[in-house]
Amino acid sequence: MNNAPIALITGASRGIGAAIALKLAAEGFRLALVARNTVDLQAVADQTGLSAADCLCLVADLQQAAEIEKAAALCLEHFGRVDVLVNNAGIGHFGPIQNLTLAQLQAQLQLHVVAGWILSKAVLPQMLAQGNGLLVNILSDAARRPFAGGTAYCASKFAQDGMFRSLQDELKDSCIKISNIYPGLVNTYFNNKVPTAPQPHKLEAHEVAAVVWEVIGNGGSPAERHISRSH
Ligand SMILES: NC(=O)c1ccc[n+]([C@@H]2O[C@H](COP(=O)([O-])OP(=O)(O)OC[C@H]3O[C@@H](n4cnc5c(N)ncnc54)[C@H](OP(=O)(O)O)[C@@H]3O)[C@@H](O)[C@H]2O)c1
Repeated sequence: MNNAPIALITGASRGIGAAIALKLAAEGFRLALVARNTVDLQAVADQTGLSAADCLCLVADLQQAAEIEKAAALCLEHFGRVDVLVNNAGIGHFGPIQNLTLAQLQAQLQLHVVAGWILSKAVLPQMLAQGNGLLVNILSDAARRPFAGGTAYCASKFAQDGMFRSLQDELKDSCIKISNIYPGLVNTYFNNKVPTAPQPHKLEAHEVAAVVWEVIGNGGSPAERHISRSH
């Protein structure tokens, strides 16, 4: 019987989520990977070296509540447990408020707040039943730092921060730990970029993944971790 722990990771098709998937696979986890792009998700699964049974690809659009719930249910049905949920999937639309659309604001709120809320709510009963669980949430330094051009992104990240810090309070006497990670700029595909050669002011995705692994190794401590090269 395979006793390797299970991590459910959103936004695992590229960037920070893919780096976390590769790190956790290397450290002995079995995985459920969530994103929309089937080809990219499968490529990450292949890179982990895990079998299809040990690395589930869950193609889901986290803008859709029903698809979020289905992804969580499929993970729990397949593995029977989940030890770590990494709420990572994210998008960023920046610019003056006049140039942003309501749909862009809503998409960020949906992905950063609503998807994290639904997924966390979906896995908590199983974590409580099994007697352990860790939520690792990839927020942003923009969750604490308002800036011009950030009316939509900062709104969603501040809200995500408030939600997970409230959940920390709510679960403080339980077997479930929550660790919130606040990266500065990271060299990924975020905001329609393409990863470049390493830059002095940007973290690399694998550095964020290393911090996530450190937090997991410390049983969910610290409760919040800020990492940055840009400030
Ligand atoms: N890069 C930075 O500078 C930076 C800094 C601080 C915080 N962050 C945060 O880090 C997290 C990861 O960002 P990243 O830098 O790794 O960006 P990225 O390279 O663009 O990756 C974003 C991931 O989110 C997934 N995603 C986007 N929309 C989705 C949807 N509707 N349903 C399911 N999955 C969706 C994408 O997969 P699909 O397109 O395949 O669906 C992709 O796997 C985000 O929460 C971001 O806010 C990033």
